Amino acid sequence: MNIRELLNDKVQQAMLAAGIPAECKALVAPSKKAGFGDYQANGAMGAAKATKSNPRELAGKILEHLALDGIAAKLDIAGPGFINIHLDPAWLAEQLSTAEKDPRLAIAQASDAEAQTVVIDYSGPNLAKEMHVGHLRSTIIGDALARLLEFQGHNVIRQNHVGDWGTQFGMLIAELEEQLGKERDAEMALQDLEVFYQQAKKHFDQDEAFAHKARDYVVRLQSGDPEILKLWEEFRTVSLQHSKEIYQKLNVTLTDNDVCGESYYNDDLSVLVKELQDQGLAVEDQGAQVVFLEELADKDANPSPVIIQKQGGGYLYATTDLAALRYRAGQLDADRIMYFIDARQSLHMQQVFITARKAGFVHPEVSLEHHAFGTMMGKDGKPFKTRTGGTVKLAQLLEEAVERAAQVVLAKSPELDPEAAAEIARKVGIGAVKYADLSKTRTNDYVFDWDKMLSFDGNTAPYLQYAYTRIQSIFRKADVEPGSLSGDISVAAEQERALAIRLLQLSEALEQVGREAQPHLLCTYLYDIASLYMAFYEHCPILKSDVPEALRTSRLRLCHLVAQTLATGLELLGIEVMDRM
Ligand code: ARG
Repeated sequence: MNIRELLNDKVQQAMLAAGIPAECKALVAPSKKAGFGDYQANGAMGAAKATKSNPRELAGKILEHLALDGIAAKLDIAGPGFINIHLDPAWLAEQLSTAEKDPRLAIAQASDAEAQTVVIDYSGPNLAKEMHVGHLRSTIIGDALARLLEFQGHNVIRQNHVGDWGTQFGMLIAELEEQLGKERDAEMALQDLEVFYQQAKKHFDQDEAFAHKARDYVVRLQSGDPEILKLWEEFRTVSLQHSKEIYQKLNVTLTDNDVCGESYYNDDLSVLVKELQDQGLAVEDQGAQVVFLEELADKDANPSPVIIQKQGGGYLYATTDLAALRYRAGQLDADRIMYFIDARQSLHMQQVFITARKAGFVHPEVSLEHHAFGTMMGKDGKPFKTRTGGTVKLAQLLEEAVERAAQVVLAKSPELDPEAAAEIARKVGIGAVKYADLSKTRTNDYVFDWDKMLSFDGNTAPYLQYAYTRIQSIFRKADVEPGSLSGDISVAAEQERALAIRLLQLSEALEQVGREAQPHLLCTYLYDIASLYMAFYEHCPILKSDVPEALRTSRLRLCHLVAQTLATGLELLGIEVMDRM
């Protein structure tokens, strides 16, 4: 249980004991202003309204029943009836001590009853092409949520819904076949997927016989012709290998086992369309099978059409997504299904969710969530592109990130040996790209800016990584193994207190991020910790010779908890730390 919940429960009990009806909420939250306690209970005003009494008097009555001995040092009433709770430094010290000794930082695991099965759909590149910047946000935001919910003890099932099916594969397989005929192996032919795609397209546009073959191959692929399937599999394997390399570079947890793409649902599509027809949800319209949704009608009351089968029999993106949703709710038994997809697909997701609900593919209790995000922009305010206006390949972007980080790292610490410097540059460069994205409000567009993200000042990955390394260097100087100290922690100085309270709010921050799928809130939290740590470091000497032994131990333990909090928080965001930089 976190502090807010603990206090909320206690105030709620006091309200009941004071005769206030149970539907009146305690409304405990961290105080926004200094001097008003650490937490505030704001429920007295609402309760007074409901019971037609005086809010300040009611707050007084609640206080009479409020049992916070040993937790709060002082309680007072402010303004119209706010209850300010000042936490007891001894109690804070005890909580900190427990957290510092625990590798999980005293963050509870969900109990069996609380643990949910959460399916997370993220990354999902189209295998016909190489991963580009358009896949970055889905991949890293989705991965942060997967890590975080797993840490909280939920059963997370990652689903990489790759685009590995569809008409363009006829053309690609036909091209692959030709190139293999020229004594190349698939890996060589597909070394650069972009180039390969362009070759295939050119071939298709200019050579009638080739185009004919490509169309024939689509049909044979869809009817399961083993020869064509074999070529398709070869193509798919090489392309997936490209994605896998990116995931490894990006420190993203997706593996081969998480790949469950469009092709997986192939056999289910005709069954699904038939079911929707039988239910009267899908109807024929100009030769196609269409579900019309009144729920999403436009302003002229025309229902929104969802095509699930084209004239001629082909299935669409919506059909596969409906099959995937049914599989996730039914076979995977999900309690919660989260999609991390670009905001431009919002209508598509709504159509899929509403159709699936109407068809009974998902139980009403299952939570269906599309967590949309904005676009990554260049400094010119337009979607991020290469200088010549092309799409930026993810592999190149990450390479550039590491190169730029290497320059920054070497400028700061020229004494590092090249091997160590390269490893640090990798962590800093990749961390900077990820953090720049994760720290922005998810739903907004954001500007991709190399200089800002690699800066050691401000809310950036290097700033947090640097705060971590500074603490490691204190331990080296003190010649103490971090985590090995066991004296008491004391919370006396103002800066210690501010840092202590924020440290103990980690679980509150994680819960909010898990609930709202907003990783930027975790970034803000970590940035607060690093900033409060800097203030503490300036005002509270640690290793100076006149600092008494007990105080030095207390402060070192606080340093260690800060370092562990930064490392854990960054790890949940998929960002690595290092001992030196
Ligand atoms: N392949 C799709 C694209 O590149 C993304 C897939 C997202 N997931 C999904 N279930 N539709 O746009």
